[in-house]
Amino acid sequence: MSDPRPPAPRQHRPEGAPRREVELFEGLTTTRAIRRYSEEAVSDQDLAAILFAATRAPSGSNRQPWRFLVLRDDEPSRQAKLLLARAAREIWVQKRSRDGYDRGSGLDPDSPKARMAQSMERFPEAIETAPVVILPCFLRYRAPHLSDGASIYPCCQNLLLAARARGLGGVMTIFQLPVEAELREVLEVPDGVELAAAIPLGHPLGAHGPVRRRPLREFVFEGRWGETPAWAEDPPGTRYTRAGPPGHRTPID
Ligand SMILES: Cc1cc2nc3c(=O)[nH]c(=O)nc-3n(C[C@H](O)[C@H](O)[C@H](O)COP(=O)(O)O)c2cc1C
Repeated sequence: MSDPRPPAPRQHRPEGAPRREVELFEGLTTTRAIRRYSEEAVSDQDLAAILFAATRAPSGSNRQPWRFLVLRDDEPSRQAKLLLARAAREIWVQKRSRDGYDRGSGLDPDSPKARMAQSMERFPEAIETAPVVILPCFLRYRAPHLSDGASIYPCCQNLLLAARARGLGGVMTIFQLPVEAELREVLEVPDGVELAAAIPLGHPLGAHGPVRRRPLREFVFEGRWGETPAWAEDPPGTRYTRAGPPGHRTPID
């Protein structure tokens, strides 16, 4: 019987090959969500550098209310990765039918929607085997407030950009949510500490490159709501996505 899995993807950088320096603006605009990783280990030096950069992020009053649980190969980490993979499967099954991945453009195997579906199908296994998964944690020090996220998620983006700078890739996920109670038990997370995300990291299979977003003119107003300034133009050659919040239809839809 033929192997039903898709062919192994092209590896972005052969193991041991030198890394190319990525200039800041290029890094900001071309760091993609990476959901496939090679078997190459992530070194202690890379992890230290990435977490150093993560902890340079801003936070309210410079309180730095973050901690990072790094999951690698020990038994609790393996159990935690299995839990996260289970959550990834559950979330994808729901999302696939809710967001119509098997309807409309999703029926064309080359459409962005179908490619996303293929990537999400494989993602749980990639989480199980990812060299590293990082759980950024938020130390709750006051009653919940709208700005709490701003003292934990900037460090997550720093982390992903630093990973990119070190030749690695990863993606922010919320797979900790459905399995939070079990994760807390396995990893002995104390009360007062919230699991903010689950970020798998590794040497990417597949490439970074320009991310697709909606046109800048949809996002920017000047002076008053709805007034689009003429200068809000994307650079020539920018490619777009139709993704966006439900109920906010605009000209490219
Ligand atoms: C708050 C947040 C939650 C996310 N949760 C998930 C998730 O649970 N699973 C997943 O595969 N990707 C998740 N992502 C990644 C987004 O899908 C990704 O950033 C987005 O599609 C843009 O991808 P791109 O940067 O490669 O263009 C999340 C991103 C953010 C910012």
